[in-house]
Amino acid sequence: MTIYVDDELIEKVKDYSDIVDIVSDYVQLRRSGANYVGLCPFHNEKSPSFTVSESKQLYHCFGCGEGGDVISFLMKIENLDFIEAVKFLAGKYNIEVQSKRADDRYLKEKERLYLINREAARFFFRNLTNNKRPLEYLYNRQIDSKTIRRFGLGYALNSWDSLHTYLLNKGFKSEEIEKIGLIGRKSGNNGYYDKFRDRIIFPIIDLKSRVIGFGGRVLDDSMPKYLNSSDSLIFNKGNFLYGLNLVNKYSDRKKILLVEGYMDVISLFAAGVNYAVASLGTALTERQAKLLKRFGEEVYICFDSDPAGIKATLRAIDILLKADVKPRIIQLPAGMDPDEYIKKKGIIEFEKLFKKSINHIDYKINLAKSKYDLESIEDKVEFTQEVARILKSLDSPIEQDAYIKKISEDTGISLEAIQAEVRGKGSRNFKSQQRKPKISPVDTKVVSASMKAELDLIILMMEDRDYFDLIEESLDNIDYFTNEDFKSLYQIIKASYNGKTSLDREGVLDLYAKENPDPKILETVRNHQINYQLTRIEEIIGDLINTLKYNKLEKERNKILKQIEVLENKVNRSKEEEVALLNYCLELTRLNKEIKLIRHE
Ligand code: GTP
Ligand code: MN
Repeated sequence: MTIYVDDELIEKVKDYSDIVDIVSDYVQLRRSGANYVGLCPFHNEKSPSFTVSESKQLYHCFGCGEGGDVISFLMKIENLDFIEAVKFLAGKYNIEVQSKRADDRYLKEKERLYLINREAARFFFRNLTNNKRPLEYLYNRQIDSKTIRRFGLGYALNSWDSLHTYLLNKGFKSEEIEKIGLIGRKSGNNGYYDKFRDRIIFPIIDLKSRVIGFGGRVLDDSMPKYLNSSDSLIFNKGNFLYGLNLVNKYSDRKKILLVEGYMDVISLFAAGVNYAVASLGTALTERQAKLLKRFGEEVYICFDSDPAGIKATLRAIDILLKADVKPRIIQLPAGMDPDEYIKKKGIIEFEKLFKKSINHIDYKINLAKSKYDLESIEDKVEFTQEVARILKSLDSPIEQDAYIKKISEDTGISLEAIQAEVRGKGSRNFKSQQRKPKISPVDTKVVSASMKAELDLIILMMEDRDYFDLIEESLDNIDYFTNEDFKSLYQIIKASYNGKTSLDREGVLDLYAKENPDPKILETVRNHQINYQLTRIEEIIGDLINTLKYNKLEKERNKILKQIEVLENKVNRSKEEEVALLNYCLELTRLNKEIKLIRHE
């Protein structure tokens, strides 16, 4: 297949790749202020003058003058031409590439979808300016017309077909409009209905000022409060952040602030904070963590202080740490969100909060403290154990010691006791064994580890919307399911949730049976039981997904090894074969690295 490298692919490759990640494969880097430094791979040197800037995504050597971006780095170090370097990165980051013919059609289709969204955004915007009720709603929330324009806010009329009709008149087809998620099919297959009705509309605008999707909020207390465009050819909720277009334009990228709601981003911006973003109604993903890292030297989290906000903060911390970002957490007075805070106190008070922000360890320790009554001996023991678990995650013994000392002073628990707990002999192994999920398949027909993991995931997904979100977010590729039956079940589950918080399990299985005339997998699913500890569910899901990923990567690796073997055994290799061999070897390195990562996770 000839791969067609066009501007879009180049953009995407640049956007997805992380120069620090790439350079680290060749140069040992260490952080130095906002940058990374190491020994230059392009000339001989003893003291490091090779500098990599993460926020700028550039490298420069002060010794020999070499410099450039991620693509030129690869060209130079791997001796590739431009196109090869782009392909290498596309491969590394699993960016979809298309052969030329398919690509043209694909691009055209996408262009149409962007156009539809743009027209829809215009329509919504005009509706807003012509309608008193939604305008008053926004003015009441202190959003002025300048902010409305800046964010392109709009209003979806209280009508079942106004948008559909409008877009038809503009020359778009119902199938396209359905594809982008603005209309849905009525049941019984007779006609369509507008999905957004009587809602304030928040267009989601990407870094190229294209409208990729919409969020819509009700004007009262009805449910669901928010509706988002479904994922489409041009929209993936895990890949973007609300407000990033403005951050890209205005922020100096010294810091970036992650908040929960669209309204938070908007209020903050209106008050002068040009560095706030929100996820698109789902839990933070690894991809979003990378974006945060790219757009801010320091990453701050400021979520609501309610239990849901705390849960989301803990999850965001974990995702960010995985992306090698150490976030700082801003805590608001109970019951407040950033929107209310900045309206009440103004930007000066708001910016003071950054000085009072705490790191993720302190955040977790404070949470633990608030759970226990440190006057009670029993609680004290449990608190110490919990803190020990938190401190174990620290790599640096010096840091550990500093915390141990501080906690001892704060609580009166002796240094030795905390130390023993943190470095406790044997206790850790024992605990981690206890923590292992006990997964006991009833059905003996399910044999392989991968099948079992896939089945467990399917069951968990149907069990709880939160589990589903968690799985969907970490799975990032449906092809990790090797079993076709599970794959289609997964899709049915996904479609059935669609905005709902719970699922009718039998309904899902019936739907599946309808589409698959010989549904032998159903009995297996019905009979399969898993016993897991609820409190460990994130860990269990992580393990299961890793099993899937691991199996998939191993399979790919075996394939590549075979190809390499074939080529290596050839006596007279053509030039193309030499290139292919090189590419296979590079791919093998990549796979090895990924497999290693999963094993160590
Ligand atoms: P206000 O209540 O108007 O201040 O909105 P908010 O943006 O502050 O929302 P909130 O803090 O309640 O929720 C945070 C974010 O979670 C929202 O911006 C949405 O992205 C998402 N969200 C909230 N409610 C729903 C819902 O019912 N469905 C979906 N899909 N997402 C929601
Ligand atoms: Mn809010």
